[in-house]
Amino acid sequence: MQDAYFLYHSIGIYPGKEADLARTMGAFAAVWGAANDAQWDWLLPRRAAFIDRWRAIINAPEGSVTTAENVTQAVHMILTALPPERLRGRRVLIAADCFPSNHFLLTRLQERLGFTLDTVPLRQGAAWVEDEDFLNRWGPDVALALLTWVSSTTSARIDLPALVAHGRRMGSVIGVDITQGAGLLPFDVMAPAVDFTVTTSLKWMCGTPGAGILHVAPSLIADCRPELRGWFSQPDPFNWALDRFDYAPDIRRFDNGTPGCVAAIASLPALDWHAAQDHGAILAHNRARTARLIEAARELRLDLVTPEPEARRGGSVMLRLPGPAAAVVARLRDEGISTDGRGRVLRASPGVVTTDDGVAALIAGLARHARA
Ligand SMILES: Cc1ncc(COP(=O)(O)O)c(C=O)c1O
Repeated sequence: MQDAYFLYHSIGIYPGKEADLARTMGAFAAVWGAANDAQWDWLLPRRAAFIDRWRAIINAPEGSVTTAENVTQAVHMILTALPPERLRGRRVLIAADCFPSNHFLLTRLQERLGFTLDTVPLRQGAAWVEDEDFLNRWGPDVALALLTWVSSTTSARIDLPALVAHGRRMGSVIGVDITQGAGLLPFDVMAPAVDFTVTTSLKWMCGTPGAGILHVAPSLIADCRPELRGWFSQPDPFNWALDRFDYAPDIRRFDNGTPGCVAAIASLPALDWHAAQDHGAILAHNRARTARLIEAARELRLDLVTPEPEARRGGSVMLRLPGPAAAVVARLRDEGISTDGRGRVLRASPGVVTTDDGVAALIAGLARHARA
C-alpha cells in the first residue's frame, strides 16, 4: 500500500510514477527500434532537459551540470580532473558518517593521487559527526572537503553555511553530497557557493537509478582536466582529428564517450512532475509526518537516532530498536508498511504518497513489534 511507504531515503515514488515510466520507456523503445535516423534528435534534447531540471533544483548556472551514473562516479570524475598538485601531499577531509561508497573510492584514490584521506570520527557513542569536530580538523592543508549534507544513517543535517564559510578561509575545494536532501530541502549551489555538488535522482526526486549528476562551479571547471575524456568532452564532438583534441570550456569537458541518456530520459517525467509541485508543500507534508513519528518514538520509548530540531535534520526518522531492525522491517512489510533497517536502526522517510493513515499504521506496527 502506497499510504505506508517510508522509503524515500532509498527510492522515491510519486502518484503516476509507474504509468509515466511505462509511457516514457515505450516511447524510447519506439524511437530506438525504428529503422530511421531520428534517434539522437530525440534522445539528446531529453538528456539536456534532464540536466536543465537539475540545474533549476540546485540553482546551477548553464554549463555547470552534467550526467554521471551515480554519486560515486561523479566524485571520481571531479577528483581525477583536478590539477594533481592541488591534492598531492595534502589532506582530503570527510566525516565518518559520509556515504560509505564515497569513502571506499577515496581510500583507493589517495594511493594514486597522493593525498591523505582524513576521516573525522564519531564521538564515543554518537550517531553523527559534530560540525564542531569537522571544523576543528579543517586546516589550510585540506585540499578538498567532501561534505555530506544529510546523513543516510541518521538524517542529521550539517550546518552547511558555517562549514563552507570556514572552508573558504582555508582555501579548500568544497564539494557536497546532497543525495539525502535534494528534492526535499531547498539547496542552492550559489548560497553558500560550493565548488562541486553530487547527487542522484532516485530518492526524493523520484527518478530512476543511473541518473546521477555532477555540478562543478564554472571557476573550477577551467582548472579541471578530466582523466576520463573522449569525443564528447570536446566543444565539437565531431572533431575527430587525433592531434587536435580540445576540452570544451564548460562542464561538457566531463563527458567522455556517447552519453548513456536512458536513465536521464527515464527520470525526466519524475523531474517534470517535481518541477510542477509546490516545493514548500512537499516539505511541509514531510515535516508534519516526521514530527508525528518523533513524537511517537518518545511515547513508545524508542531511541531516536535523528536530531530532533527540524533545522538539523533531513526527511527521515531513524530509530534504534531493542533488537535487529530486519525482523521488525519484515513484520511491517507483511502488514503492507515499507521501511528498511541497518543493524538495529530502522529508517522511515515519509514522502508525497505517505498519508496520515500510513503514519498511524507504522506507529501501531512499531508499538506491536519494536518495543523491548
Ligand atoms: C548520502 C548519500 N550519498 C550517496 C548515495 C548513493 O551513492 P551512489 O549513487 O554512488 O550509489 C546515497 C544513497 O543512499 C546517499 O544516501
